[in-house]
Amino acid sequence: MNESTRKTAVVSNDELEKQRRFMHKVSAVITAGYSEKPKACVITYGCQQNVADSEKIKGMLELMGYDFTDNRLEAKLIIFNTCAVREHAEDRVFGNVGSLKSYKRENPDIIIALCGCMMQQKHIADKIKRSYPFVDLVFGTHVIHCLPELLYRALTGRKRIFEIPDMDGAIAEGVPVKRDNDKKAWLPIMYGCNNFCSYCIVPYVRGRERSREKADIINEFKELVSQGYKEITLLGQNVNSYGKDLIPQVSFSQLLRELNSLDGDFRIRFMTSHPKDCTKELIETMASCDKVAQHLHLPFQSGSNRVLKAMNRHYTREQYLELINYAKELMGDELSITSDIIVGFPGETYDEFRETLSLVEEVKATSLFTFIYSPRKGTPAAEMDDPVSSEEKSRWFKELTDLQEKISAQQMALHKGKTFKCYVYGKGRLADNYVAARNDGNLIIEFEGDESLIGTFQNIKVIEPLTFVMRGEIVKEKNYEY
Ligand code: 5AD
Ligand code: SF4
Repeated sequence: MNESTRKTAVVSNDELEKQRRFMHKVSAVITAGYSEKPKACVITYGCQQNVADSEKIKGMLELMGYDFTDNRLEAKLIIFNTCAVREHAEDRVFGNVGSLKSYKRENPDIIIALCGCMMQQKHIADKIKRSYPFVDLVFGTHVIHCLPELLYRALTGRKRIFEIPDMDGAIAEGVPVKRDNDKKAWLPIMYGCNNFCSYCIVPYVRGRERSREKADIINEFKELVSQGYKEITLLGQNVNSYGKDLIPQVSFSQLLRELNSLDGDFRIRFMTSHPKDCTKELIETMASCDKVAQHLHLPFQSGSNRVLKAMNRHYTREQYLELINYAKELMGDELSITSDIIVGFPGETYDEFRETLSLVEEVKATSLFTFIYSPRKGTPAAEMDDPVSSEEKSRWFKELTDLQEKISAQQMALHKGKTFKCYVYGKGRLADNYVAARNDGNLIIEFEGDESLIGTFQNIKVIEPLTFVMRGEIVKEKNYEY
């Protein structure tokens, strides 16, 4: 990494070296007097970015000598990596942490730690300090790479530790990663968000947009391919603005094209795209790159231009549709669209909500991620008048999910007879001699086939769309040729 080629702050090699020294110190403390490795339990809430962060946490813990368990009641170290995007996720964290109170009383030497987006909010950290005295360590999103040092202090000191620096964030390269899956990998290409959509807490808790160097991404990508990873998802809150902070600038399309040209048998996915920064060039790049999944996750949030403005989204319904239609024109049947929608934004009327329904009808997404608006302290929307009752919002929500269910079924039915490039990921459920595969749009197609096909790409023709999966047949008995 060359620190002079970027505007964004980078964690220094000295700091990373210091953390490596703390790894050895932690290792000495946790293994002293024990014949078995102590177990750690890492519980992750929220988005893929958090999953990727937890994989780094586990990577560091593994090097420090921890083993892993899913059972928190047999762990010496319990870490909750939290999500702040909606209230529901926060409530679950408080409930689950609260339930450990007596476990900690009976086992005072275990360490309970909390990290992630929730902890980056002052009122939440204060609540933990006040009402959850059995939590030993709290650390924010910007200091994950400091876990060895923080853990050492928690293990050897008597004081509770709250390490939540308020900063724009920096890039830490070279942190070890222990991946949850040996075929599908998450690869963060950038961190943070500059968009400040009026309902969203992410820019406040994840700092400003900062891109990893292209060379670092390519090296990690090549390593993943050489390790046999088949589906690699590039992650960022807004991947379309990747590289704007690098000197010289690099565009996301450029990065995609370079990754696409690497040797190997793999599929590239990416998320999330923002319609205001999604360019026709990106759509053309997707269409022309054979290893890039023809899947566009492009959240529109609302179909009403007034609401979009109040959300601070910087595009109109018409501009959104122009992008979608261009993508459909270029990628045709191959293209799968998914999107995020918020129902019941403050001040949204039923008529405005119906504009969302009509956009849903026009877009014809494979599937949607739908949410009822959740006020987030500190965001502009939380200060707006919100006269519609939650019962009413729930009725609208049901109307939306019913509509999408109908559209998803229609979309599935249209797939009959089509052939998709699919990654065979495991055993099927329809019958003993079936295996299961996913197409670019993440739809599951099961077909009669030998388990030796697992881990390969195949052409599968859809015979019969069922409710959640499709039944298909293999078109040619050899690996997909790119
Ligand atoms: N309330 C409900 N949904 C939200 N999202 C983000 N913030 C909120 C909120 N305050 C949704 C958006 C975003 C997705 C990741 O979560 O749809 O695209
Ligand atoms: Fe939140 Fe908007 Fe940034 Fe997405 S683009 S993380 S919705 S502020």
